[in-house]
Amino acid sequence: MNYNIALISGDGIGPEIVAEAKKVLDKVCEVYGHTFSYKEVLLGGASIDAHGVPLTEEAIADAKASDAVLMGSIGGDAKTSPWYKLEPSKRPEAGLLAIRKALNLFANLRPAYLYNELKGACPLKEEVIGDGFDMIIVRELTGGLYFGDRKTYEENGVQTAVDTLSYNENEIRRIAVKAFDIAMKRKKKVTSVDKANVLDSSRLWRKVVEEVAKDYPEVTLEHMLVDNCAMQLVHNPAQFDVILTENMFGDILSDEASMVTGSIGMLSSASLNETKFGLYEPSHGSAPDIAGKGIANPLATILSAAMMLRFSLDLDKEADAIESAVQSVLTEGYRTVDIMQDGMKQVGTAEMGDLIAGHIA
Ligand code: NAD
Ligand code: IPM
Ligand code: MN
Repeated sequence: MNYNIALISGDGIGPEIVAEAKKVLDKVCEVYGHTFSYKEVLLGGASIDAHGVPLTEEAIADAKASDAVLMGSIGGDAKTSPWYKLEPSKRPEAGLLAIRKALNLFANLRPAYLYNELKGACPLKEEVIGDGFDMIIVRELTGGLYFGDRKTYEENGVQTAVDTLSYNENEIRRIAVKAFDIAMKRKKKVTSVDKANVLDSSRLWRKVVEEVAKDYPEVTLEHMLVDNCAMQLVHNPAQFDVILTENMFGDILSDEASMVTGSIGMLSSASLNETKFGLYEPSHGSAPDIAGKGIANPLATILSAAMMLRFSLDLDKEADAIESAVQSVLTEGYRTVDIMQDGMKQVGTAEMGDLIAGHIA
C-alpha cells in the first residue's frame, strides 16, 4: 500500500536523525511491499530561513493532507542563532506549538523503557534499577501554560511578565480518557501528576480525572504531586505504569524519565489528536552542541517512526520489526556515544541507522 508521510527534518541534528529513520522506513517498504511518498515540510528555523516565519499555512496544509507526520527537532542555540533575535512569536519553538495546535495534537505519548542492555548507561544504582522499568508519560500538549495569555509590561519602572495557566474540564477529560485507555492495555495503573496543593488548575484536574476513573474500575488511580513525582522517578521508577500530566509538568518529567533510560536520545514520542492521525518526533531537541558531527543517537526518531507505523498506519508487524531491530542491535553491543559503555562498539548516527535497517527482515 502507499502512504503519504509529511517529513519535517527541522534544525540542528534534525536532518541527521530523520535521514536514519527514513533509511529504516525505506527498508520496511522494501521488505513488506509498501511505498511511502514523502513530502518535505519546513518548520522552525528552516522555515524562518526560507519564508521568514516558523510555520506557514502551506506547511499546515501539507501536514493535514498526509497520513502522518514524521519530525526530527527544531530550534537553535539561543545565544548564537539569529532566530532568537526575532520576537518570541516568530521563533522556531512558536512554529512547533502552532503546528501542535493547528493539528489538535492534544495527546503526547512518551514511552520510557529501560532496555536490559542499557542498564549500565542508566545513572541509577543497580539496586534502584532492579528489573528495570517500563512506563509511558501521557502529556497534555495543547493547553496549560504553553497556550495561555502572556505579556510583559513595565509599570513605574518595574518590569513584570505574566504567563497564564488554564485548563477547562473538557481538555482534562479527553487526555485522561486517553491515559486510562492506554492503561487498560498495560498494567492498569494511572499516576496522575499535579500540584493540587497549590494550583486551582490542578484541583480541577484531579476532580475530572477522578470522574473519568469511574468508567475504568479495573484501573488503579493514584494522585501524586509533581515535586514528589520528580523525586520518585529516580528513587523507584518501576512503580510507574502510565503517568498522566499537564503540558509543562510532562515536558519536564519526560526529560527526567529519558535520562534513566540511559539517554534522552532513546525517548520516542507520538502526538495524537482524536483520530488516528499523529505527529511523531523524538522527545529531545535539536542538540545544537552536537549538530553536524554525525554522533547523535537516531534511535528515539527511529522508534518514533515505529510508533507512527503502529498508531497512524496500522502496520503493527512492521512496527514490531523496527522495535526488534533496535533490540538486536543493542544486544549486539552497538552504541552511539551518549549510551556508550566499556566493552561496547561505538558507532555514529549513520552507522546506527544502517545497522537497524540491516536487521529489518
Ligand atoms: P536538547 O534536547 O536539544 O539537548 C540537550 C542535551 O542532550 C544536549 O547535550 C544534546 O547534545 C543532548 N542530546 C539531545 N538529543 C540527543 C541525541 N539524539 N543524541 C545524543 N545526544 C542528544 O535540549 P536543549 O539543548 O535544551 O535545546 C536545544 C534546542 O532544541 C532549543 O532550541 C530547544 O528549544 C529545542 N528543542 C526542540 C524540541 C523539539 O523539536 N521537539 C524539543 C526540545 C528542545
Ligand atoms: C518538547 C520541547 C518543546 C516543548 C519546546 C521546543 C517548545 O521541549 O517537545 O519537549 O516544550 O514542548
Ligand atoms: Mn521538552
